[in-house]
Amino acid sequence: MHHPDVCIAGAGIIGLSLALELHHRGVRVTVLDQATPLAEASTAAAGMLAARDPHNPPQLRPLAELSLSLYPDFLDRLHILSGMRVPFQTLATLQAIPPNVPNTSGELTLKDLAHLRPALNPGDHRFILLDEYSLDPRQLATALLAAVRTTTIDLRPNTKVLYTRPVDNSVEVSTPAGIIHAANFVDCTGAWASTTSHLPNIRVTPKKGQMLSVSLPPSFALKLVVRTPDIYIVPRTSGPNSSRAIIGATIEDAGFDKTVHSADIAHLSTLAAALLPPLAHAPQLEAWAGLRPATSDGLPLLGALPTHPNHFLATGHYRDGILLAPATAHVMTQLLSGEAPSIDLEPFSPTRTRITP
Ligand code: GLY
Repeated sequence: MHHPDVCIAGAGIIGLSLALELHHRGVRVTVLDQATPLAEASTAAAGMLAARDPHNPPQLRPLAELSLSLYPDFLDRLHILSGMRVPFQTLATLQAIPPNVPNTSGELTLKDLAHLRPALNPGDHRFILLDEYSLDPRQLATALLAAVRTTTIDLRPNTKVLYTRPVDNSVEVSTPAGIIHAANFVDCTGAWASTTSHLPNIRVTPKKGQMLSVSLPPSFALKLVVRTPDIYIVPRTSGPNSSRAIIGATIEDAGFDKTVHSADIAHLSTLAAALLPPLAHAPQLEAWAGLRPATSDGLPLLGALPTHPNHFLATGHYRDGILLAPATAHVMTQLLSGEAPSIDLEPFSPTRTRITP
């Protein structure tokens, strides 16, 4: 019988970041993954740390800002453990703002955009320049996994959780390889959380996102993210994927299907080229799909199940799992340690019923 302090289900960026934070505090951690660590949404993502996207739910802001503030230390720790430095790829985002948002001091006029022409075709969009970073989630995943492997964290791929049940003040976690008794269990299975945990009020459903990468023409050195409600273009400026751009993404209800449809990819390419005409002839390199873990109010689920105080959830990060990983690891470690969390977690309570748009 195996008796870790904390058993985490889901070796994505949320589960492994939490495992590292707990391990740092001296907690004995086992992480189970039904298949391959970091193979799902964590590496399908574009990597925008979009804490100030005006389309985010406002209740997300304190968690997002906390995560931004923790990111430098998080990357430093990965560097110390793995020897791998994960660089920021971009330092700014050109963001189309919704028509009902009044002018702000950050709004760009066509004159300000002049130096970006002829690359940008703004159409009807008004843009602001956001102080926003992005990174390459594939680089992040490589460093995170290498960091975890330098520790005593017990990482078990291909180990699905069959069921969990409360036993006294602990959780029995059943897997095909046997039973694990953990003082606490944390469900970090992302889009699969509704199959791993009995969620009380708010379910987690997969929202499929198809996307592609293209090779940027040598004459078009894009150095910032360009984003409208319909499309985003995220350049990689350093590392193994430099000189390419990620273009995304569809948002679909397709269950757990990850089929890539050429018509959808072509539509994304067309939207991107309408916004940035130099992309019209950019050769496509890859196309893929990921499954975002979505809740009905767009906010994550962070906390214990009301029926079982040792069974926690850290899932439902929807479009912001990369951004929110350090803060999620931080506040979940506080909860698991019986400490008051750094921010109010009420908006993320698994028992909430209020559905906000
Ligand atoms: N985080 C980008 C997306 O969800 O498409």
